Amino acid sequence: MGLFTFRESRSTVELLHSRVALAAWRRRIAGSSLHFVPTMGALHAGHARLIERAALSMAGSLAPRVLVSVFVNPLQFGPHEDFERYPRDLEADAALAAAAGADALFAPSVGEMVPQGAEGLTRVQPPRALQQSLCGSSRPGHFDGVATVVCRLFALVRPDRAFFGEKDWQQLLILRRVVADLGLPVALRGVATVREADGLARSSRNRYLSAEQRRGAVALPRALQAAQAVHGRGEREAEPLLGGVRAALERAGLCVDYVQLVEAHTLKPLHRAQGLALLAAAVQCGPSRLIDHVFLMSRPPIVAIDGPAGAGKSTVTRALARQLGLVYLDTGAMYRALTWWVQRQGADPADPAAVASWLEGIDLRLEAGPDGEQRVWVNGHEVTAAIRSLEVTVAVSAVAAHACVREALTRQQQALGLRGGLVAEGRDIGTAVFPDAECKVFLTATVAERARRRARDLAERGFPVPSLAELEEQIAERDRLDSTREVAPLRQAEDASELVTDGMAIEAVIDALVALFRERVPEEAWPGLQPESA
Ligand code: PAF
Repeated sequence: MGLFTFRESRSTVELLHSRVALAAWRRRIAGSSLHFVPTMGALHAGHARLIERAALSMAGSLAPRVLVSVFVNPLQFGPHEDFERYPRDLEADAALAAAAGADALFAPSVGEMVPQGAEGLTRVQPPRALQQSLCGSSRPGHFDGVATVVCRLFALVRPDRAFFGEKDWQQLLILRRVVADLGLPVALRGVATVREADGLARSSRNRYLSAEQRRGAVALPRALQAAQAVHGRGEREAEPLLGGVRAALERAGLCVDYVQLVEAHTLKPLHRAQGLALLAAAVQCGPSRLIDHVFLMSRPPIVAIDGPAGAGKSTVTRALARQLGLVYLDTGAMYRALTWWVQRQGADPADPAAVASWLEGIDLRLEAGPDGEQRVWVNGHEVTAAIRSLEVTVAVSAVAAHACVREALTRQQQALGLRGGLVAEGRDIGTAVFPDAECKVFLTATVAERARRRARDLAERGFPVPSLAELEEQIAERDRLDSTREVAPLRQAEDASELVTDGMAIEAVIDALVALFRERVPEEAWPGLQPESA
């Protein structure tokens, strides 16, 4: 069974026009998790993808309820923008939402949403720093209007999750920040841009275009893709990349609002493409303002998962790597394999000189077996199962604490990571091995929870199981050793997100890890194996 199950499309949605009707529907579905897709209507295939994604349920859990809102928000339009003529077609929207798997559609009037009137309304003002580039500078007040209405919608709907397109990357970034800063109890999910066959990003505003304008509009994605190809051939300077896009847009007769290269998370302008960069453009094409972007990355992403012993890192890291299409680098297995070898030689794991002598010339290999499981080899011996024994478990901390061991294995891991594209787990991945990893997670659980898991694991593998009290003591001691050792001690990297997994099923942990990864690496930059709609 996969991680997700798909929902059948349905023929109708429940239409809710008032806050009272929404509250009554909300009461009826109490107990289900609620996934929300806020829109301004004129729904298209891009919205359908958001709704389908919202309707996915994790294997083993109940299907969520899906609510779509349609509200053309006057607060986010400038005085000379297209608020009055923005396309409105509720019947078609309801049909598309139903077919994509929505349960209900909330379509309030302006009076219903803002009964106190726009003038007297409390506003949400996201940080200026995130609004100084891209659409924020061309459309003053736009993101204040978006943030205000989205917060109002969140308060009325009280969703568990809300889905937004990566197409409006600046909007998604700003809303994530608003949710984090205000501590709103909703998880945001971004979904990759859906494009027409010729590459034009789906947008409600595409329907304003005449046939000729529509033909010209395709220059926007083509210019950006061409720049992405130039970047792929090694160009890093902003000027030639931006100049190429601007020239292509102008040649196609599009009126350029901006072409910018910015850091993907701070949105600060870049002179050189580095890390994850966003190359974005906005143009006027006849009556429509069109935006689009590409992400530029110099290598596939690296995910660093650190945490104490027994937090369940290896199981979830392996599954995460598979789901994201990344290679799994089990650094713990490398330390365990060395420990096994040292013990086999009868050497003392606590003696650095003895360990150093067995470290020299050691042939340590991690390989994917035919079933996708990782196999571990040391000097020609397959030790995949043996390195999980209690004997190795109790000695591995001492071996891993020696400076010579850390240096040698860190070097090996960094060499493996030069080309990127991997998920590594261990104790010092985000701090020492891959400090420039795109996504860092500190995966942990309480000592009691880890002892319970360890007992279950040992029993399943047929090893003797000590008492829980004994296991708790061992785990606490291991934590102490790991976090106080001189070289690369176990500690959370400053830029890591903490995930405490007590009481979480494995699928829920993997889902949470994917969400953390997606906050740092959009689907458009690294698609991985996305759950597509059925
Ligand atoms: O992306 C949109 O359609 C709108 O900006 C949103 C998020 C629905 C707020 O009005």
